[in-house]
Amino acid sequence: MEFKLAFIGFGTVGRGLMELLLQKQKDLQQTAGFTYRVVAIHDIILGTLMNEKGVNGRTALDLAAEEKSLKNHPDFVKQADAGHVITSTGANVIVEVTPTNIKTGQPAVAHVELALTNRKHVVTTNKGPVALAFHSLKKLADENGVEFRFEGTVMSGTPVFHLCETGLAGARTKRIRGILNGTTNYILTQMEKGIAYEEALRDAQQKGYAETVPHADVLGWDAKAKVLILANVLLGAHLRQDDIPCEGITTISLDDVKAAQKAGMRWKLIGTVERGKNGVTAGVKPMLLPPDDFLADISGVTNALSFETDTLGVTTIIGPGAGKIETGFSLLTDLLAIHRKNP
Ligand code: HSE
Repeated sequence: MEFKLAFIGFGTVGRGLMELLLQKQKDLQQTAGFTYRVVAIHDIILGTLMNEKGVNGRTALDLAAEEKSLKNHPDFVKQADAGHVITSTGANVIVEVTPTNIKTGQPAVAHVELALTNRKHVVTTNKGPVALAFHSLKKLADENGVEFRFEGTVMSGTPVFHLCETGLAGARTKRIRGILNGTTNYILTQMEKGIAYEEALRDAQQKGYAETVPHADVLGWDAKAKVLILANVLLGAHLRQDDIPCEGITTISLDDVKAAQKAGMRWKLIGTVERGKNGVTAGVKPMLLPPDDFLADISGVTNALSFETDTLGVTTIIGPGAGKIETGFSLLTDLLAIHRKNP
């Protein structure tokens, strides 16, 4: 199948994917037989591009960066909303990369529903639809014979769901534990160098790690959304946000960090998901880790996740948890997964 892509959202992550697609176009064709055409880009701020023969992605990237509008692109169209782009273009895959709204999941939930109902595959890095509506969206995808993939919702391009779908298939996961938010881990690491919390947060925002609303990182909401996704997708739970106790890093002072260092310990924001006698439970909280805990060694924006299974003991993945190209890459891996099933 030739991939005809429509981007809904063209912010940091969408542009990261576009850069990768352009950079790797030849390589992907030669090594994986993957061919694509971008038929539309819709962004609520930048405007809409549509061209069934193929939108020039390079020009779109340049205009988005320099002019912060797509109106001077030859494929610019007026008054085309997301719904129109999803239903009325020849796209067979919708790349949903609008900003996450973790309270309502919208407008992303509506975009994903519309795409799946119209038998279009969906790849997304938006945590809203997966955290709030995974089971119903997966059912909709199955009923319509299309894929709903979201590798980048947890640990950006580091393969969490691919790992579980293939490498850990057949193993029963009992417990998942890890560092799931790059921004807070970066801030805590900077604080260990004596840098104040506010400066470290500003730095993380400038580097593009932080969420649109930084509270989502520092209060633990982003990590909470991720443990919710892990619980519901990988452990078959039906948890809601209110079921998950959550504490962020704002209560940890520079003095706390220094005192921990003196004692040979490190503060980390830890997310856990556990299968117990009474079902699946999950939580997020800062923990003081001893040096022999492997999570104590994870610094900066890096994330880490361990899976305790019935067959393998503990399997651990460590890798990037945020970033433009890293998160864009997660979408590429999802596209390639769809390609393998629909060659
Ligand atoms: N703000 C998130 C983080 C980005 O810092 O990990 C990826 O969800």
